[in-house]
Amino acid sequence: MTKGKIGIFDSGVGGLTVAREVIKLLPLESIVYLGDTARVPYGTKSSLTVTKFSAQALNFLQTRGVKLIVIACNTVSALSLSSLKKNFSLPIVGVLKPGAEKAVNTTRRGVIGVIGTEATIRSRAYPKIIKSINPKIKVRERSCPLLVPLVEEGWLKEKVTYSVVSFYLRPLLKKRIDTLILGCTHYPLLKSVIQEIVGEKIVLIDSAREVAKQVRKILKEENMLRDFKDWSGKNVSQHQFFVTDRPEKFSSLTKVFLGKNINGNVQKISLE
Ligand code: DGL
Repeated sequence: MTKGKIGIFDSGVGGLTVAREVIKLLPLESIVYLGDTARVPYGTKSSLTVTKFSAQALNFLQTRGVKLIVIACNTVSALSLSSLKKNFSLPIVGVLKPGAEKAVNTTRRGVIGVIGTEATIRSRAYPKIIKSINPKIKVRERSCPLLVPLVEEGWLKEKVTYSVVSFYLRPLLKKRIDTLILGCTHYPLLKSVIQEIVGEKIVLIDSAREVAKQVRKILKEENMLRDFKDWSGKNVSQHQFFVTDRPEKFSSLTKVFLGKNINGNVQKISLE
């Protein structure tokens, strides 16, 4: 089982921010990434639709010999994780719990802010998890639907980006949050703009790193961690990337999201 790969699923390209941390922490593991680029965004869709699309994606990943699946998408983790866990026997890791736990351990005043897609915020999944860890903590949420298109456009530091981020965050700042969960795959790329707007005293929680740690923990516990090189001492990890539409567009965005080019190593598949 150490030989199996780690499956990473996202609605599109954003989950590469999670893949990046998994690869960094577990460099000997191989990744199979699937981005449902034909049907992105998920953040505006209903729970029923998101769960149906996600089950199709997980079925595909299972055919690629994965030993564990990471749901990199906050929207899927918020809306569909429990249903997916019921229907698939592989270990499945969502992104909400690791981020929520980190936030609970970080907050000083007990007021945590959460930003995410419309569907994530509508689901109230973050407050539910946070309150299950510590019911005294107050959670203040805000959906930020314009941030995903801004990031996909590559507008990470434009004037308009500052204006939009500041418009969304101002009401949260008034609510005296001291910790802010970046509850969407795309937001880590806006970290410096967000930090500048909220000020140094507010701690930003990027769940990607926490998710990678959680993956390592599970693989270790289940004796599935690949922590050895091959007989010649080489790292033989190999990553594969699949999308459901426009592989060239995905390739062009990997530099920003994954931190490196993958030189066209992207295959188009169909989930329907
Ligand atoms: N991946 C989604 C998330 O983290 C953002 C993009 C979308 O709406 O599909 O919530």
